[in-house]
Amino acid sequence: MLEYKHLTPEERAHFVEHGWLRVPGAIKPKFVEEWMSNLWVRLGWDEHDKSTWTEEYLKMPRHREVPAAELCPEAWAKMCEIVGGEDRIDPVRERYHGDQFICNFGKEVQEEKHPSEFTGWHTDNDWYRQFLDSSGNALTIIHCFTDIPPRGGGTALCEDGIKPLCETFYQHPEGLDPPFEKSLYAHCKSSKNFAFIEAKAGDVFITHGLLPHAHSPNYLHYARVIANPHVNLTEPFNLNRPDGDYSLCEQVILRALGRESIPEYKPTRERLAFYPRTAFFKREKVTPELQRMLADAERKGLPPSSVDSVYLKGEKAIEEHERRNGYDKAFGPNGVAQTMKDDAPYVPEAPKHDVLHDKLPAVKVAVAEI
Ligand SMILES: [Fe+2]
Repeated sequence: MLEYKHLTPEERAHFVEHGWLRVPGAIKPKFVEEWMSNLWVRLGWDEHDKSTWTEEYLKMPRHREVPAAELCPEAWAKMCEIVGGEDRIDPVRERYHGDQFICNFGKEVQEEKHPSEFTGWHTDNDWYRQFLDSSGNALTIIHCFTDIPPRGGGTALCEDGIKPLCETFYQHPEGLDPPFEKSLYAHCKSSKNFAFIEAKAGDVFITHGLLPHAHSPNYLHYARVIANPHVNLTEPFNLNRPDGDYSLCEQVILRALGRESIPEYKPTRERLAFYPRTAFFKREKVTPELQRMLADAERKGLPPSSVDSVYLKGEKAIEEHERRNGYDKAFGPNGVAQTMKDDAPYVPEAPKHDVLHDKLPAVKVAVAEI
């Protein structure tokens, strides 16, 4: 039977009932400090002049990453127990967590919105064909790098949105490919059980991969910064265990469908894993961010080697980074997203990692010039 050394019975019950769990103060403070220290340099904005904050909400690429177990040991131990043990977790894919920040700046004046009016309900599954038992995204993690007060743009969670989503995937054993129809999450608008992330910097929220979530308005007009890595498993969830020893992740799905096991469920198409659809537009920002970081180092009289980015650590480091994040995979059936809100199929001429490699000499030139 699965053993629980890091999750209390209350925490286990909370995860199964609500689909998420908060682990306060779980990120080692040195990572919060180090990774937040050049946020404004990366953005190219003035922290103290909000007129330079030209976007309300944006997603950034990743420059630094460390094993999840090093970033947040206690939270990692709980993640392992939630999925049924560390040995079920993919040893490579997303095993490192990093500084791919999602920033919600909000704006000075905006209308109050009820969660039923939010338009961005989704789950994170842009790198595989989604079946009911897919475990490519077993857990969506929310690392909080700033405090998030009430009304401060914390992620909204739709707790009762898991059930209709599971029902839909049950009815589609052929699997669905991203980007999904908006109708897949339409039920969130009429849900009753919403929760909002409120946090202190360093808190980690562990959420089930099938828990719909959306960004909420930041009425306070400050920099709310999170990162959203995932926990990927090597095998699909097992929804038919003769011994009934289901992981907490599996229990959430069974509970949503009101079943004790689902022996009849069988995918009817092949499983697919591909380049993450939404990585493309984020990686477009790597080079300009690097150039700003290098220019900042120069202003401070520091050598280019003081800039901490995997993209300055050579081909081998970049290849490992790409493998960990799925950037080495071919594009999926619907290509990639050109922009944050792009749902249209788009297939660039070459995989993004090749294009990025082509750009690196330009960055090296910038280094040499400094
Ligand atoms: Fe998300």
